[in-house]
Amino acid sequence: MRAICCKTYDELSAYAADIVCETLKNRPNAVLALPTGSTPLGMYEELIARCGRGEVSFRNSSFFILDEYVDLPPAHTQSYNYYMRDRLFSHIDLPESGIHMLIGDTADDDAECDRYTRLLDSVEGGIDLLILGIGANGHIGFNEPSDAFFPDTHKILLTDDTVEANARFFDNPDEVPRFALTMGVRPMLRAKKILLLAYGSGKSVAVAKALNGPITPLLPASILQLHTDATIVADEGALQLAAR
Ligand code: PGA
Repeated sequence: MRAICCKTYDELSAYAADIVCETLKNRPNAVLALPTGSTPLGMYEELIARCGRGEVSFRNSSFFILDEYVDLPPAHTQSYNYYMRDRLFSHIDLPESGIHMLIGDTADDDAECDRYTRLLDSVEGGIDLLILGIGANGHIGFNEPSDAFFPDTHKILLTDDTVEANARFFDNPDEVPRFALTMGVRPMLRAKKILLLAYGSGKSVAVAKALNGPITPLLPASILQLHTDATIVADEGALQLAAR
């Protein structure tokens, strides 16, 4: 896995947007998987602006989200369904048929996970471009530190530090869901290209371990070392502890 150091958040966002645009230029019907959180917001703004200027079109592409909170309906303002529509999908020319999301408030979590696993398996050749964030604990999607890697979409109990980190988005910290559904690591490793975005010194320990540490489910992002085209796109702060 290699690392690219960007001087500013804007540079990081533009770099990631460039890779999205290049992917769609080479393959207009590309399949992408995208993260939520604070880090990709600049990239989404950049993509909306470029789409508005006619520099890129999402008309024939399709997108998967990585994860969703259990029990939050898609219309809940903190659900990741809502986030993706609000921050990106509603502002670009992506058709509804190109949007694939996990539903958090389903009556049967296992069936929902199976549905998503089958959908991901049906992507011929794998996702063209997978973009990830990273938690301070090294999670990717909501694959939290654990004794084992989970290959397919699964329900997970969020760690206390993830719940705490995400409390900033909720009016009341008690409202943060404890469980989530997340894509597993198998479709991630099957993706043709992976970008992991990391911004700020709060991610420096996780980034250093992901890049240079042992491959272990205790630091889920470390599994990306097995991929032949995975790049961490980060700023100086996030890379300050990484051997380069
Ligand atoms: P962040 O979240 O972009 O808000 O830091 C990343 C993550 O937890 O995966």
